[in-house]
Amino acid sequence: METVVSGIRSTGNLHLGNYFGALKNFLKMQHENNCYFFIADYHSLTTHPTPADLHQNVKQVLVEYLAAGLDPDVATIYVQSDLPETAELYLLLNMNAYIGELERCTSFKDKIRKQENNINAGLLTYPVLMAADIIIHKATKVPVGKDQEQHLEMTRTFANRFNRMYNVEYFSEPVAYNFGEQLVKIPGLDGSGKMGKSEGNGIYLADAPEVIRKKVMKAVTDSGPTQQNQEMPEAIKNLFTIMDVVSTPDTINFFKDQYNTCSVRYGDLKKQLAEDIILFTAPLRERIIDLSSNNEYLRKVVKQGAEKAHESASKTVREVREIIGYKSF
Ligand code: TRP
Repeated sequence: METVVSGIRSTGNLHLGNYFGALKNFLKMQHENNCYFFIADYHSLTTHPTPADLHQNVKQVLVEYLAAGLDPDVATIYVQSDLPETAELYLLLNMNAYIGELERCTSFKDKIRKQENNINAGLLTYPVLMAADIIIHKATKVPVGKDQEQHLEMTRTFANRFNRMYNVEYFSEPVAYNFGEQLVKIPGLDGSGKMGKSEGNGIYLADAPEVIRKKVMKAVTDSGPTQQNQEMPEAIKNLFTIMDVVSTPDTINFFKDQYNTCSVRYGDLKKQLAEDIILFTAPLRERIIDLSSNNEYLRKVVKQGAEKAHESASKTVREVREIIGYKSF
């Protein structure tokens, strides 16, 4: 069995984009691989959450992992900060990560544009922490979306550099892994771009039906097609992309035909889309509510996860320390 590692940053509730772009993949993988799925709460510190928010956000992602169907008896589910070995490996890897390559990273350049008042060193070394997350379990496969490919490339660079520096064949090179299928990128409801936590354009798995209806009804559209089989503008294509994952083929074809014959009424389309999203998220939402009040179970899950993760991580850190030259007296 191959080892798989992936994590989601705990910076807010998970949305449909996280579900179809990441979680759904995790679910399929857990039975065929040795999987570690964690909640990236060290990473979440780059945006300075309050102590109360920090914990609440970790709990939310944990609950949503479980509600979606990650099985703590099959995969190792843990909280990143419960594994301080990660922080040690991060420190060690930082010594061989160069400022130049970190500054050139696209996500860093993006962040300094978006949060110009908080360009902290954690942002710069974000890819090093991510590399530590992955290679601490000697993972070979990492299910991530396109936006993380550069980080994964850097992980390979750091792993390789370590091997060369110490003349060992210790770390292997992890690759992105998405079941060979195109990952579904779920667009937002604001007419362009992808669904994101911070963009305010998303539908959360935990959203109540009324909230979903309201959000979908407000989604950006245009004044409608004027020519038969006219190409769809991005905003409309986006609604159909969401429909593709939640509606039946009949529904999708019905509205596509209507679009192609210029008889579509966006109000009706949105109403149907909202109901189909609600149908899809309802069981998830129910489990989210149930699990949220079951602290005893959550405590058990994270404890078990931390223990399993610790087994593999402590071995790696011990061996890495030896390779680097740390010796006991
Ligand atoms: N950077 C990832 C994201 O923003 C989250 C993440 C942190 C991650 N560490 C990871 C993903 C390790 C995969 C493996 O989506």
